[in-house]
Amino acid sequence: MSEKRIGYYDQNWQEYDGWYNSHPAIYQSELNVLKKTIPSGVGLEIGVGTGRFASLLSARFGLDPSFHMLKLAKERGIEVVQGVGEDLPFKNESFNFILIVLTIWLVDNPLSLLKEAVRVLKRKGVLILGILDRESSWGKFYEQKAAKSQFYKAPHFFSPKEILQIFRDISVEFKAAFQTLLQPPPDIKNTEKPVKGFGRGGFVVLKAIKE
Ligand SMILES: C[S@@+](CC[C@H](N)C(=O)[O-])C[C@H]1O[C@@H](n2cnc3c(N)ncnc32)[C@H](O)[C@@H]1O
Repeated sequence: MSEKRIGYYDQNWQEYDGWYNSHPAIYQSELNVLKKTIPSGVGLEIGVGTGRFASLLSARFGLDPSFHMLKLAKERGIEVVQGVGEDLPFKNESFNFILIVLTIWLVDNPLSLLKEAVRVLKRKGVLILGILDRESSWGKFYEQKAAKSQFYKAPHFFSPKEILQIFRDISVEFKAAFQTLLQPPPDIKNTEKPVKGFGRGGFVVLKAIKE
């Protein structure tokens, strides 16, 4: 990821974190879906940001390039490490689960980040990916928004089907998908219950196991 984009998150950490306060139904709905997939054991979130999700999903460790994002994640009880997901400073087979939420779309080389995630996962460990579905109204809404920003040259959101292909390429076995944000963007009125599968919701969580 370019220095410019890393700098963007580092400078705008307060605005980023505050967005969740003004969109409580989205935050709670996304949290509910992620909770369906979290196993027990030691977890790492790659691209932990301010720790909004990791701290409530019992992920002990969080990695991010942004110093200011990490400062808040640390205050939320996460053991933080500054770095990038494409070059993880951890030994092979260190974690029971790896969480990656709303991050792979903005890295330059998502495949190398995911390969690194698999490397540091224990055997039978769980990989959990939270994405905005490119084919949903939310994906289209945010892709257009990002394209207008000077920080994202060519935003590429993923579809769940693309992620399933990547899972095959990195030798993890797809186990389950859950979705939320069935109401249209830019906001939802009520917190939603998780729905199994994908194709209807804007936010999709895909769970896979390391073989
Ligand atoms: C959209 S935010 C998501 C933060 C958090 N996962 C959440 O959902 O609230 C993306 C985060 O990814 C981080 N990031 C950017 N490039 C990264 C990279 N190459 N490796 C790991 N994290 C990265 C950013 O600093 C930012 O905190």
